[in-house]
Amino acid sequence: MTASRPVLANNSALLCGSPELRALFPAVAETTYLSICDKMILADPIRQGVDRFLDHLTHASTNRVGHEEKVTSSRRLFAEMVGATPDEIAVTRNVSDGLNSVATAFPFAEGDNVLLALGAEHPNNIYPWLHQQRRGIELRNVRGVAGRIDVDAMIAAMDSRTRLVSVASVSFAPGERTDITALGTECRKRGIFLLVDGVQSAGILHHDFSNEPIDGFATSTSKGLLGLYGYGFLYVKRNWLDRLMPVHMSRTGADAENDDASAMGTYDYRPRPDAGRFELGSYNLAGAYAAEASLTMLLELGTRAIEAHVLELADELRDGLNRLGLPVFAPRLPSHVITLGEVDAGGHGYSADPRMTRCHEVLTEAGVVSTLRRGQLRMGLHCYNNRSDIDTVLEVLQDARRIAGH
Ligand SMILES: Cc1ncc(COP(=O)(O)O)c(C=O)c1O
Repeated sequence: MTASRPVLANNSALLCGSPELRALFPAVAETTYLSICDKMILADPIRQGVDRFLDHLTHASTNRVGHEEKVTSSRRLFAEMVGATPDEIAVTRNVSDGLNSVATAFPFAEGDNVLLALGAEHPNNIYPWLHQQRRGIELRNVRGVAGRIDVDAMIAAMDSRTRLVSVASVSFAPGERTDITALGTECRKRGIFLLVDGVQSAGILHHDFSNEPIDGFATSTSKGLLGLYGYGFLYVKRNWLDRLMPVHMSRTGADAENDDASAMGTYDYRPRPDAGRFELGSYNLAGAYAAEASLTMLLELGTRAIEAHVLELADELRDGLNRLGLPVFAPRLPSHVITLGEVDAGGHGYSADPRMTRCHEVLTEAGVVSTLRRGQLRMGLHCYNNRSDIDTVLEVLQDARRIAGH
């Protein structure tokens, strides 16, 4: 698991929030970037990784096998980051791809049920399950107060026909972290598959699947993993793999004697024994080059250090916003996503609460990138943020209140 990693030139002592790290992200010089929950910003070494791929294409200087080393390497780096082994990691396109791979492969029988908090999940963790109702499964909507995922209610909703629970590690709004340990421990006792939509936490909060009771975890590299859109990972715990029969199949996912993805193997194939059984056809190679570079950087920083850094800044930001008398959402578990206002007082990109609209406007005018989601003003932190970003937000919002005559 600790095979040698590619090294980022001249960045051997990267520290969260340091000027050296911030200098790698052009967007950090141009904006106060607080929107990792929406999308990544590209660091120079990651862009250089993609440029190397494009150079190879331009000059016909590497073949497919050479490019696919980046797929192998990114898979290994992601496995190392989350305390898994590479054979438990499938390379996917995005979260939806990973969740659907499990949903469609899962051996449901008619009358089995799946638990989900419809009021708290991203649509891409809802439609896969609505679609599985065709197979005769019951979708149980577990309601939580104010759009929250209520782990106690989830546990109370489990019965002998519950086969799978699907939850976000951190919801896209209000940005609350789910108590995966409590939920997963109960799932383990009952043999229920715990599937996690991990895109809001991957690369930012520390994960260790050798300890966390998680059976499946889907993410893309388009947020905290700091890579490109269209590339992602699906973790499936080894003891589940041979019970999950992929619905789609290509040479990539088939265990058919030779390893060449273009050569026909034997007709008497089986799905690969590892998570690669979910991989389909050619890879997003640009995404693989980017992921190799971004995961190298994140591993150098260390996800424990990143988590400690963002949680400290998040506390400071919440305290400051509370001092300004703004309606700060109070998460039950520490989270790097800070939201203001009522959940569902609006929707995607707008709020019915004029205070949220105004806060968003003044922040935008001051070059602070935040988002409006589910009617809330949302800010998310990552390794490149520092105290000056927090001060900027508080100064801008304090001035806005002064101007508004508070
Ligand atoms: C919690 C969550 N799940 C899923 C997604 C996106 O899913 P996909 O990678 O399939 O586009 C997002 C993106 O905003 C998200 O916040």
